[in-house]
Formats: sequence, C-alpha cells, structure tokens
Amino acid sequence: MSKVKKAIIPAAGLGTRFLPATKTVPKEMLTIVDAPIIFYVVEEAVKAGIEDIVLIAGRGKHSIEDFFDTSYELEDRLAKEGKSHLLDRLAHIRSMANIISIRQKQALGLGHAVLSGLPVVGKEPFAVLLGDEITMGFRGEPNVTAQLVSSFNETETSTIAIMEVLEKDVSKYGIADVEEVKPGFFKVNSLIEKPKPHQTKSRWALPGRYVFDSEIMNLLKNATPSLNGEIQLTDSMKVLCESRGLNAMTFKANRYDAGD
Ligand code: G1P
Repeated sequence: MSKVKKAIIPAAGLGTRFLPATKTVPKEMLTIVDAPIIFYVVEEAVKAGIEDIVLIAGRGKHSIEDFFDTSYELEDRLAKEGKSHLLDRLAHIRSMANIISIRQKQALGLGHAVLSGLPVVGKEPFAVLLGDEITMGFRGEPNVTAQLVSSFNETETSTIAIMEVLEKDVSKYGIADVEEVKPGFFKVNSLIEKPKPHQTKSRWALPGRYVFDSEIMNLLKNATPSLNGEIQLTDSMKVLCESRGLNAMTFKANRYDAGD
C-alpha cells in the first residue's frame, strides 16, 4: 500500500506573469479547456493515490476553495433542469479529495509555503505539486506524481521529477546536478535555484513535482532566505542530498507550462 497520502499544492503566488488576468482571478483558476488549472493538478494527485490535499493559499484565493465545495443554488438549478451530466461532474470534483486550506500569511517563498503545510502532513511523507506546470500521463500510464510515489514506496527516499532543458532555459528553474544510477533514475548530488547558464553544467531542471519524507520539513524550519529574499525549497533539498539523500527520475508524460 502506498505510504504517500498527502500532497501540498502551493497556491499563494500573485500570478504577476499572467496580469492583468490575475488581478482578480487567481492564476490557479485560469481555465484550460473547461476546467481551471487547479483541477488538473488536484486530479493528478488524486490519480496518484493522494487523499488529503493541502492548499497553501494567500489572500484572494477563496474561489479555489469554492471550486471544490458545494454550490447549492447552482446544483439545485441543474437538478431542476435535469442536467444530470453536469451535476455528476460537479459531484465528482467535490468528492475528489479532502481539500484542506492553510493561509500562508507572508509571501516568503516556496520553501516557506511548503513548510506552512506542516500542521497537516506532520511526520508523514507527502507530494508537492506546483500549479505552474500541468502534466498529463500517457493514456493508461501512471502520471508523474504516481511515478514518484511508486519510487518513494520502493526506495523510501525523497524523489523528484527532472527534465532536460536547453541551456538558455536553465535560469528559469531549479537545476539538479545528478548521477545516473540506472536508465531514467538518478542520485541528486546538488541543486541550484535558477542559475545563470555558466553557473552549472547540468541541464536537468525541476518541473515542480516532488515526493518528500518529513526530513525536508526539519530542514525548512531552519532555512534562511536566499535568492530574492525568499526561503527557497531548492536550498533545503540541497541539504537533503547531503544528509538522507535525494533521488530524481525522468518521466513519461506530457508536460505543459500553464502559461503556454
Ligand atoms: C519554482 C521552483 C523551481 C522550479 C519551478 C518549476 O520556481 O523554485 O525550482 O524549477 O518552480 O516551475 P518558480 O517558477 O515558482 O519561480
């Protein structure tokens, strides 16, 4: 049985990349086809066996909670109009997972957002899914989070997804210096957050999918701000490489930058 039942989805960012759309609508609620970005991210977690989703939200993010809640007026109307297909869809969304919302009271960075989930995850392992990226498992295949969860269940070591990027793009991501253990599976030796191309030889970028054991929370508690004055998750992951160890794996799935 999978040990990973909880996931943290940080959703406290200001979404400046998507202004003016995100002036009043959280970026997680921007639509792809007929559902908001957050739906696809939660769906990925649920399909990976996650039961409790911890949303780390900031101000003005109520619509995310409302999206996973009941809307009596709307559902009553749909029932009266016999629109059972839509009703079923809304019921499915509502029952996908337990959504637990925690306010991140200060925007102190991704590391701080993840640490804000500590009251819910406690000492359990957990996944982190960043909503800036949407991944779609190939038909019938496990999705990226499910692949990480399987690896964690097997190795009991924190595991992150990595993907190869072009040199010009390394400064957009956390970059991992890795050593291949077997095809598609690596040991992480070090990490650097958004380096200039000359600061790293590695082209392995972090697309925002992680499974951690609780040690990362201990490290985050003692972390200090670095790049942009923020507590960077990458810094604590770097310490994790040197202590308990960190694995990385490539994945078979389509991945999209939500901004595209
Ligand atoms: C964050 C992480 C970075 C990761 C990226 C993926 O950066 O800090 O390590 O590669 O997400 O989207 P952000 O894009 O939030 O600045």
